[in-house]
This record gives sequence, structure tokens and C-alpha cells, in this order.
Amino acid sequence: MNKVLLCQRDELAPGSLKKVPNAEVGDICVYNLDGRYYATADLCTHATASLAEGDLDDDLITCPVHWGQFHVPTGRAVTFPCERHLRTYRVIVTDREVYADVAAEAEEALADADPAGAGSPV
Ligand code: FES
Repeated sequence: MNKVLLCQRDELAPGSLKKVPNAEVGDICVYNLDGRYYATADLCTHATASLAEGDLDDDLITCPVHWGQFHVPTGRAVTFPCERHLRTYRVIVTDREVYADVAAEAEEALADADPAGAGSPV
């Protein structure tokens, strides 16, 4: 496990997101989806854009540059031109803080992974 602090629990309201710089794995985007926290890579897999500057609608994040979309819990690319899935991180929530384990994928991403390997999260 490699735990990284993302935010305080009361810092991120439901329906909001935030970019967290990380020198080891690159910037991380943390999301509060109706009280559940998720973390993905912040960089869009299509080109150079920060997803933290995009629009969050339910569990979809829309990239601010070409409007591709990803499913936040799984990192799955769902709307063209995004074709490569987002890296996700397992989230750990304590009484006050939200962490990412940058050595582990989100449980939802693993459950959604194609057993044949095609379409596996990046
Ligand atoms: S940079 Fe994100 S969709 Fe093109």
C-alpha cells in the first residue's frame, strides 16, 4: 500500500471534484459522488487536459477540451474521442480524511475489467 492524502472529508461537497498534485504517479482527481469518494488520474487519456476542470454529472466526468467522457468509478472511457480507460485508485476514507492507495486500482475498476484483457483500465 502507498497511501496519499487527497482531501479532508468536509472539504469536498457531493458532486464536486478536485485535482491533487502527486509527484510519484502524476496528478490525481478526487471525486465526491453523492457521499462516495473516488480517485482517478487527472490527465485525460486522449490528450493533455485536466479532468478536474471538466464537468461532473452523476458518475460521468466530461473532459473540458474535446468533451470525451469517463465513468468515474471504473475509469472506463465511454464517449469518443476517449478510447483508453483512466487509471483508477483504491480510496480509503477515515473519520476525517480521504486517501488514495496509489499502488491499487479501485475495486469497481477491477470488477469491471474484461477477463480477456481487452479494455482493461490503463
Ligand atoms: S483532451 Fe480530453 S477528450 Fe480530448
